[in-house]
Parts: sequence; C-alpha cells; structure tokens
Amino acid sequence: MIVGVPKEVKRDEYRVAMLPVGVEELVRAGHSVLVERNAGIGSGLPDALYEQAGATLVDTAAEVFATAELIVKVKEPQPAELALIRPGQILFTYFHLAADRGLTEKLLASGVTAVAYETLSDDQGRLPLLTPMSEVAGRMSIQEGAKYLERPQMGRGILLGGVPGVAPANITVLGGGVVGANAAKVAAGFGANIGLLDINMDRLRYLDDIMPANVDVLFSDRHTVREQLSRADLVIGAVLIPGAKAPRLIERADLALMKPGSVIIDVAIDQGGCVETSRPTTHSEPTYIVDEVLHYCVTNMPGAVGRTSTYALCNVTLPWVLRIAKLGIAAAAKQLPPVARAINLIDGEVTNRAVAETFGLPYSERLVSPAR
Ligand SMILES: NC(=O)c1ccc[n+]([C@@H]2O[C@H](COP(=O)([O-])OP(=O)(O)OC[C@H]3O[C@@H](n4cnc5c(N)ncnc54)[C@H](O)[C@@H]3O)[C@@H](O)[C@H]2O)c1
Repeated sequence: MIVGVPKEVKRDEYRVAMLPVGVEELVRAGHSVLVERNAGIGSGLPDALYEQAGATLVDTAAEVFATAELIVKVKEPQPAELALIRPGQILFTYFHLAADRGLTEKLLASGVTAVAYETLSDDQGRLPLLTPMSEVAGRMSIQEGAKYLERPQMGRGILLGGVPGVAPANITVLGGGVVGANAAKVAAGFGANIGLLDINMDRLRYLDDIMPANVDVLFSDRHTVREQLSRADLVIGAVLIPGAKAPRLIERADLALMKPGSVIIDVAIDQGGCVETSRPTTHSEPTYIVDEVLHYCVTNMPGAVGRTSTYALCNVTLPWVLRIAKLGIAAAAKQLPPVARAINLIDGEVTNRAVAETFGLPYSERLVSPAR
C-alpha cells in the first residue's frame, strides 16, 4: 500500500503522524511511504531522518493526497485538505465528527473512509489512541498551572512545593481518570497538597491504593467541590462522561469562593469544559481572567509539547497503520473489531452510531459483525 504523511496545517499544531521508525517498519513490510517535506519539523524530526528510513519526500500535501491510498494524520482535515481527498481514500486521524456537522457532511460527500483514532476501542471499551494524549495533558496541566501561578503571569505568586517553613500549594483535581491521575501524580512529585475527586467508587479505591500520601482521594459532590475551591490555589478540570458534554462542577458564583490570582486549568474544555466560565483558548492566547481567577482552556494542550506527544501518539498508532496497510481496510474491519469500531464513515455512509444520532443521519450497519 502507498501510505502518505502530510504536514499538519492546523494552527498551533506541531505534531506529525509518523516517526521515521514507522516509515522504516512500513517499508520493511513492503509498502511505500510518501512524506511531505518539513512534516516532522515541529517535532524536531528533520526530513533527512525520514529519507534515511526509506520515505519518498514530496513538496506539497497535494502530491501526498494525489498518490497515497492510506493517509495518516493527527488533526481532523482542514479546508485545504478536504479539497484534496479522493473517494475511497483511507484517512486515519483524530476526527471528533460529533462536534462538527459541516466537517461530517463534507467528508461524507468526499467518499473518504474516515478511520478515527478516538473511536478505536479495545474489547474492554478502552480507547488506546486517546489515552496517551490524556497522559500528556494531565502531566502538562500541572506544568502550566505552576507557570500561571507565577505573579508575572497574573497568578498568586505561589511555588507549588513551597519551601521549608512555607506551605506548599493546594491543588484540586476534578476527575480521577487518565488526565486526573497523571495530574495528581506530577503534582504530588512537586510536594503540593492535592485533593483528587471522582464519583466512581471503584476508581476512588484504586486511586487511594496507588497515590502518595499528599493526595487525598475524595468523593466528588457539591459540598466537597465548594470546600476544595475555597482552599485551592490551582484547580484542574479533568472530568469526562463518555460521549457527553462535560458535567459542570463549577458555577460562576463559585469563583467568589476562590482566592484572587488562583488558577483553573480546564482540560475538559474539549468536551465543553466543567466550569461555567470556561471558553476555548489557543496556545497563542491561552489564558483570560474572570472574577480575579485565571482560566487556561487550551483545547489541544498536547500540541505544545509536540515532540513528546508525537512519540506518545505514534507508539500507539503505528501497529494499527501496519495492520491496515497489510490487510486493506475491508479485511482489517472484518478481522479486527477495533478497526471496525474506528471507521466512522465509508462510501458516503455513517457507520458510527453516535455520529449518526447526533446529526439525525442514517446509520449504516454494514460493519457490524453478527457476533457483536
Ligand atoms: N484539552 C486537551 O488538550 C485535552 C487533552 C486530552 C484529554 N482532554 C480531555 O480531558 C477530559 C478527561 O479525559 P480522561 O482521559 O481523563 O477521561 P477519563 O474517562 O479517563 O476520566 C474521567 C473521569 O471523570 C470522572 N467523573 C465523571 N463525572 C464526574 C464528576 N461529576 N465529578 C468528578 N469526577 C467525575 C469519571 O468517573 C472518570 O474517572 C476529557 O474531556 C478529554 O477529552 C483534553
């Protein structure tokens, strides 16, 4: 199969969908790989490394899309890319279609086979191609929180770990899933005092077993959230109800409980955010202040640490790229249920129930195997 890797064109996106080692593995398996020049530059991966691994470098995305049968990307196709897609081409990337009717309709009209990272689920219902980005965002949320608590960034002027004789920061993490657990772990390493809140008792028991002593694992209800807000220097929003808008745990009136200069990092902003006053921001303008509380609501946090994120993403996507390239999409969907679940659109039909229901479009069962 001919596999294509265009350079990402979305604003503030520095990741690339394939490492040089991915090119080498595909070429070893008998495929050919086209890589757009400078595709890896944002992640510190120069063209020469791709060339040495066996890629053919091309100057434009148009050349990649004109030739490749399987396109591997990071972000959903942008307008300039939509114009280049050919019917029957396989596009393997993050789509988040349920959030964008216009994109869904354009992709349906293009006849592309849309294989979405975010719906590739294993037999336990886990989402292995989303997890690494949650790990990155969770760990990064503390790094960003530490930065914005500094006075020149309009924060309270607090050092997360304190120093001998001065108390460390209080951090509240709302949601103890992948983002929340990673945030709490990094914050604990800094020596902060952490309240980690969730509503899933099994998850709370697990977190209680594995978290260090400076993490209090707490059941999340209105009283606990408000009590935490009155103490917190830094709040991390990390809740998720799969497939739904994030639950709102902090109302505008609650901001009055918080100290002036405290910071909210609402990682859940990509699902609408768990704070009433959250609105999406970008890496160029990441923060704003409401009622003296600094808000950071960047929707694609991992993009800023492109090199780490590229490695974390490619480690988990490459095995699937190799499988799809080897089998072709029809056989891959038949033999590998996670691939079937990842296909959102094929030949102008919607094969993901949530996307179909969101937009009132007909749902096609052509990929549902009798066993499921
Ligand atoms: N902004 C970004 O760049 C970025 C990057 C990665 C992930 N995210 C987002 O971060 C969010 C969290 O992702 P995740 O991978 O950790 O999800 P997850 O499913 O692993 O964890 C979510 C947790 O929230 C808990 N929860 C649900 N309702 C709650 C409530 N009312 N109170 C307390 N906890 C509650 C769940 O029990 C679960 O443990 C998602 O919205 C995800 O899309 C954003």
